[in-house]
Amino acid sequence: MQAIAATQRGPYHEVLSHQHVPAAGASGGAGASPSLDKHQVLIKVAFSDLNPVDLQKLQNGPPVVDENVFLIPGYGGSGTVEQVGSAAPKALVGRQVCFLVNPESSNNGSYASHVVVDHQCVAALPPSGKLELRDVASIPVAGLTAYECLVKLGLAADTTKRVAEGGQLQTIGMGGSGRDQAGGGMDESVTTRHALKPTVEPPPPPPKVKAVASSLSTADLVDKTLLIVGASGGVGSWILTLAKAFHPNLNLIATTGGGELKEQWCKSLGATKVIRHSDIGQILKGGKEGSVDYIICLTEPTTTLFTALSDVIKPYGKICLVVSGKSIESLNLGFCFFKCANVYTETVFSSIRDRYKHILPKDEMSVILDLMAQQTIKAPLSPDLTSDNISEKFSDALKDNGVLKLLSRTDNKRGNLVMMVHAGDGLIFMDFKTASIFSIPRKECIKKKIVNKSTKEGHTNDWIEQAPIIERQELLKKITADPKLGITKVAEKQAQDYQDGLELQEAENVKSKWGVTLKKREKNAKGEELMFVDLRTGALGELSRKKILEMGAMTLGPKDEEGQETVVEAVTDFAERDDLCATVRQALKINLEG
Ligand SMILES: NC(=O)c1ccc[n+]([C@@H]2O[C@H](COP(=O)([O-])OP(=O)(O)OC[C@H]3O[C@@H](n4cnc5c(N)ncnc54)[C@H](OP(=O)(O)O)[C@@H]3O)[C@@H](O)[C@H]2O)c1
Repeated sequence: MQAIAATQRGPYHEVLSHQHVPAAGASGGAGASPSLDKHQVLIKVAFSDLNPVDLQKLQNGPPVVDENVFLIPGYGGSGTVEQVGSAAPKALVGRQVCFLVNPESSNNGSYASHVVVDHQCVAALPPSGKLELRDVASIPVAGLTAYECLVKLGLAADTTKRVAEGGQLQTIGMGGSGRDQAGGGMDESVTTRHALKPTVEPPPPPPKVKAVASSLSTADLVDKTLLIVGASGGVGSWILTLAKAFHPNLNLIATTGGGELKEQWCKSLGATKVIRHSDIGQILKGGKEGSVDYIICLTEPTTTLFTALSDVIKPYGKICLVVSGKSIESLNLGFCFFKCANVYTETVFSSIRDRYKHILPKDEMSVILDLMAQQTIKAPLSPDLTSDNISEKFSDALKDNGVLKLLSRTDNKRGNLVMMVHAGDGLIFMDFKTASIFSIPRKECIKKKIVNKSTKEGHTNDWIEQAPIIERQELLKKITADPKLGITKVAEKQAQDYQDGLELQEAENVKSKWGVTLKKREKNAKGEELMFVDLRTGALGELSRKKILEMGAMTLGPKDEEGQETVVEAVTDFAERDDLCATVRQALKINLEG
């Protein structure tokens, strides 16, 4: 499988590279397939989330002694389930999901085309089809950390109730909307998820500890204040988003390192006041009474910082620490002790280490997924991702404009970062004229009206113009007959260069895969066909190339050295292109051997 991996520890830009590595969970060489244990599932990754810990862990940890051991960063993301172990729900196969990765397995990270995870860490997207894989990719790490912090402070529904009692989950502050029993956590009865009506029976009395949380109605929180230290980053942005959704009246004070952009960002997510990290003690009232009911601290609680937090917390207030660092070893609880304040700690991976005895990550992810599906909240993805200066693409990740560069910054973050590994459920376009293949995220296709909402009756595909059955056969024939696209096996002597200046290694890759030798050959002028395949529905269609060029959805680049047209959006990286071809084959059920 493809991965961004390292074989030694060090700074990310020195040790990481794109590699062919053994499949997640496989023993053997790069071509070996995975063997799943009974609780595991194999996921084809669409988007990886990106968190500071990804790069930190590359530098810190036991030395790598075996150069065949790959360190693959990434602890969560979204994708499609391809296989399940014998004890994992079979209904997960083919479903779009978000997932949390076990941090203990270093060669199994989400910066890869495939990942293997326990099914308790996999939540299926609601089948409404409204959610995008890109949008849900930051839920597993940053979203869950935020959610678990809020649970600890009594500001969000405690899903441990479901683990203990198999009970109904009530979302605090959302009017107790109730959720179906299947949750996002795919029982075998997954298809009933949205068929189940919210219960009319009152839920069983919650255990004592949950009663505290449940008693916090929206009205009760009018005079309450939550302080978020480090609010503009990935976790902080999720905390603002969720806290605002659960408790619209809660007073949210955000700290940042300064700057108008970060202030605006925090306010757009619901912060009522934004102050500098260093001004907590000066601006907020401290002393015996304090002024803040809840604090979530997303940076190391140094002596200076923790003294300020202890000063501003109210008696019986609650503080949740998300980062440890050296300071945790000598935390001075003095003032907190006399105020009877509670100090909690949060690590999102504890549920995995604890073998899911307290928390099922799939349940927590489902709460967030449902809020997104109901359009109550949006994932707080970084607005920087939409800037032209940053590329989210897997193949660009290590380049100067790659998203990892943005991740490596220790400050000035806004929101969550994600990296596109596969096209996810976007649309793949195949241009016959230039033998180009590229993908466009589904959302963008809808926004730009590249494909039209279908008016045809009776098919499941709600918006795309799908080819009728007969035409579909014709289109399939065209695609499979074209040797230049690489969708079907390239016949001997027909193999062609994917790009000018093809590297030797890539040529070897093609040779070993297809048993043919790469050879430059004259590019024939092709027709004006531009095909698309919709990965979510398998719909296939033909568009007017001219129209798509006019719309700016496809752009012509400078002519190549043979004077042929090039397409700017075309995927030229060998591995990525090969992967797109494989995805098309899978979506169109084209058998490579046939
Ligand atoms: N325990 C867990 O399970 C868990 C899970 C996820 C993340 N984390 C940790 O939580 C932290 C935040 O994660 P993230 O994803 O939000 O990171 P991020 O996106 O990189 O954001 C970092 C945040 O830290 C703030 N910050 C930097 N220096 C600070 C300082 N001296 N005082 C206060 N805030 C400061 C930044 O604010 P400015 O840029 O405005 O200064 C920014 O808001 C990271 O250390 C991460 O490793 C822990």
